[in-house]
Amino acid sequence: MRAVICRAWGEVETLTVEDAATPAPQRGQVLIDVKATAVNYADALMVAGRYQTRPPFPFSPGLETAGVVAACGEGVTRFAVGDRVMAILAYGGLAEMALADEAETFAVPDGMPFDEAGAFPIAYISSHVAIRWQGRLEVGETLLVLGAAGGVGLTAVEIGKALGARVIAAASTAEKLAVARERGADETVDYATEKLTERVLALTDGKGVDVCFDPVGGELFDAALSSLGWGGRILLVGFVGGVPQIPANRLLVKHRAALGSSLRYFRWHAPDKLRRSVEELLGWYGEGKLRPCITHRVPLERSVEAIRLLTDRKAHGKVVVVPDGR
Ligand SMILES: NC(=O)c1ccc[n+]([C@@H]2O[C@H](COP(=O)([O-])OP(=O)(O)OC[C@H]3O[C@@H](n4cnc5c(N)ncnc54)[C@H](OP(=O)(O)O)[C@@H]3O)[C@@H](O)[C@H]2O)c1
Repeated sequence: MRAVICRAWGEVETLTVEDAATPAPQRGQVLIDVKATAVNYADALMVAGRYQTRPPFPFSPGLETAGVVAACGEGVTRFAVGDRVMAILAYGGLAEMALADEAETFAVPDGMPFDEAGAFPIAYISSHVAIRWQGRLEVGETLLVLGAAGGVGLTAVEIGKALGARVIAAASTAEKLAVARERGADETVDYATEKLTERVLALTDGKGVDVCFDPVGGELFDAALSSLGWGGRILLVGFVGGVPQIPANRLLVKHRAALGSSLRYFRWHAPDKLRRSVEELLGWYGEGKLRPCITHRVPLERSVEAIRLLTDRKAHGKVVVVPDGR
């Protein structure tokens, strides 16, 4: 099979696309004949050696996949050869064949194309886990989403609307904000030209928001924290802008909370809730409330370009990677 290979920590340009041995499924694993996968910002972090997972060399990056079950390891009961599936992966997605744990593999609903299935797991499930289980967003509350046209950001906008919240989308360009509005955002803030806190307070009659979904951190974090109202919760999802420090005094007075959320660890600690997240998401997909946004579709051989679209801040929604001829 063809696979993107990482042999040393570094820039994504050091990745190569090579022939590799097809892996054999171990106990509890399924082997997936990949029809579509998608890149994530974390792929660049993993290749640089700056992600929580540092796989042994050589390895293929890639955190999600969709395709057809080609073989099942011992003990697999929920899937059989030929089933259409999507999966969350520790790594190994940027390849023609991928191994997934059965517990992190999910049936692709009839009518969902593979491109959408390959781009579905990481963004939607991560955002759902953060907003539903950590943020405990309630109907009628206000959700502020930073990086609102990005992979996880755009899914957070849709999930906020599906849960009955008022959604304020914040991003760095008018084009990205138009994408967020098209996916249901009620209000927008351009944080390249507007002051985030002032604008959010103006949009909420001075009260601030109930929940902030933050995959950006960095310099925006302070303004996001100030945008929270009484009892507001800020969800720490990612740090593309840098890791912020949290001034504890600013949590105390307004009964605010800062809550971490990591799909990678959640799925091990709360597999039951993970399944419930997927069920709710696929239910909403069936009702037409979620519409995966795929803006680029590139062949496996051009995976580096796909990851660069994210790190250069040029993409919105998801960038799908497809093995040749699929
Ligand atoms: N905790 C979890 O479970 C989980 C799951 C998935 C992803 N994540 C994390 O969430 C973050 C976003 O991941 P993603 O795959 O959604 O990425 P993405 O599609 O590239 O989106 C990131 C967004 O962040 C904004 N941004 C602000 N500063 C940036 C910078 N210096 N470089 C790049 N983008 C910047 C961009 O929007 P603007 O240009 O509008 O600012 C962009 O749309 C990453 O840190 C990732 O590791 C966490």
